[in-house]
Amino acid sequence: MAVRGTRAPVGEPLAEMREAELLALVRAQPLPRHVAVIMDGNGRWATQRGLPRVAGHRAGVKAARAIVRAADALGLGYVTLYAFSTENWSRPENEVSMLMRLLERAVRSELPELMARNVRLRLLGRTNGVPAGVRRGIERVAHETRHNTGLTLLMAFNYGGRDELVDAFRTLAARVRAGEVAPEAITEAHVSQALYAADVPDPDLLIRTSGEMRVSNFLLWQIAYTEFLVTPKLWPDFSAADLYRAVAEFQGRTRRFGGV
Ligand code: IPE
Ligand code: IPE
Ligand code: MG
Repeated sequence: MAVRGTRAPVGEPLAEMREAELLALVRAQPLPRHVAVIMDGNGRWATQRGLPRVAGHRAGVKAARAIVRAADALGLGYVTLYAFSTENWSRPENEVSMLMRLLERAVRSELPELMARNVRLRLLGRTNGVPAGVRRGIERVAHETRHNTGLTLLMAFNYGGRDELVDAFRTLAARVRAGEVAPEAITEAHVSQALYAADVPDPDLLIRTSGEMRVSNFLLWQIAYTEFLVTPKLWPDFSAADLYRAVAEFQGRTRRFGGV
């Protein structure tokens, strides 16, 4: 990527720069349109402090709020947060039900701020598999914010990349059966159009916290050429400055898309 605007002054590593400086630095260069985040490490954060795992999830919600504000300050177009995977149902029942309630309450209490920031909330996942009360609470916020034109916040909730592809294949199979498209005429565009958020560009940057080097069934189709950044920080410790540093690192990378 061509270097434009200001770069970090020589001798001042990103790690030592403060939030406002970082924000100015990254805003001076082309931004990723879409940043996706695997918010991992809430449980470890709590365990390290001798707290129950749910305390980690509560701290994780705070971190998510800070990241939405930071993404808005940056002027990003899309942020996708992985909040609950299709595999997370296998956790102890009390953790699952606490998480559901926590997420629903967090989203609901965020409505005034989302409106004030012109943020649009969208849900990504098999939301019909979520308890009705929780689903209705979150869907209402998505509905209320649907005309907002600033940041689009996609919340991956009961989301699985494989489920998303299975659902896309079902949609495509139905279109083939209806005679709308011939099997040999199916292109990548048809698959993309059958995904949960067909109009959203693929993520440019995928951040995973807590050091795990895996994708955990997130956005399998969409991340074909996404830049990865794994940080050892646990999600509740991930700050606005960390997001800006991640974007600065992204801006320093060369994306080749298979070319030279
Ligand atoms: C991420 O933190 C939050 C969710 C998966 C809902 P974890 O709960 O996975 O935390 P660790 O990985 O056990 O530390
Ligand atoms: C990924 O984290 C899912 C979310 C952040 C919601 P997990 O903690 O569930 O992933 P694994 O089990 O470590 O792969
Ligand atoms: Mg985890």
